[in-house]
Amino acid sequence: MTEVEEALAGHVRSRAPFITEAASHLMAAGGKRFRPLLVLLAAEAGDTAESDEVIRAACVVELTHLASLYHDDVMDEADLRRGADSANARWDNHVAILTGDFLFSKSSELTADLGADAVRIQAQTFTQLVEGQILETVQPGPGEDPLAHYLEVVAGKTGALIATSARYGARFGGATPEVEEALTQYGEIVGASFQLSDDILDIASESADSGKTPGTDLREGVPTLPVLMARASTDSADARLLELLDADLTDDALHAEALALLRQHPAMDQARAYVAERAAEAKALLAILPAGPVREALEAFADVVADRST
Ligand code: IPE
Ligand code: IPE
Ligand code: MG
Ligand code: MG
Repeated sequence: MTEVEEALAGHVRSRAPFITEAASHLMAAGGKRFRPLLVLLAAEAGDTAESDEVIRAACVVELTHLASLYHDDVMDEADLRRGADSANARWDNHVAILTGDFLFSKSSELTADLGADAVRIQAQTFTQLVEGQILETVQPGPGEDPLAHYLEVVAGKTGALIATSARYGARFGGATPEVEEALTQYGEIVGASFQLSDDILDIASESADSGKTPGTDLREGVPTLPVLMARASTDSADARLLELLDADLTDDALHAEALALLRQHPAMDQARAYVAERAAEAKALLAILPAGPVREALEAFADVVADRST
């Protein structure tokens, strides 16, 4: 991870000092580096885990992720990211969008060094990520289950890149094609669970822990897992919450009331239980790996995702 970090610092540089400043802003602000870490972990399932390509692939996924954060904060009108001002808040939407584009381009340039297959995988992943982000802004179709719609959003906007992180790790770490497939499926589930945990945290955590403003999804009217589960509950004591969920929650008082009601609603634990089940499914896919430290680390990784506190 130290090597990845050093390489990343170089990849966000531009010949224009202002672009370097804008592009390194969120990189320097923090971040868990969850995706590059998964690349490195998955690479341990093969026999070339130390290769330069593994480090490069780790940089590719973090740069793609970072770029998506610049764009996401524009979409979500978020002003806090990684405990710092978002790029749109610090500068403006134009700077945030173009800096995101710059980072996507940097990521693509780097992917080209990994060969045509890696470029194709990266392009398909990016397509899925963008589809997920766009689908989030449209309502489910008539007769479509809102939860199924949301799970499709999550699989695209977050699951795809995390699945690719596992795939790249396995592939460039020299794992067999069977292991690469199993780890990709593992990544899909872990990735979706990661987002679902994030949705729970968006409601349950304080910004001192998350580095983001709590209740952003609620304010923006994005119906995430706990909200969908609360909506599906039939308890009449929930009437006020259900009414609020249909109201305009850009109003601070209504937003605070909805957040408080949701925090104590059983849907929160129901959502946590759902995520724990998915993590167990992901871990079952690791049976393809021999027992030992690599499998244990990937199991622990799935557990951490299901039980995130940051
Ligand atoms: C935030 O991702 C966006 C989601 C997909 C939930 P992370 O939670 O990985 O963000 P950083 O990289 O640690 O800031
Ligand atoms: C982020 O989704 C997904 C991508 C950046 C592709 P969210 O909007 O749910 O994530 P946060 O809460 O802003 O990190
Ligand atoms: Mg967001
Ligand atoms: Mg978003």
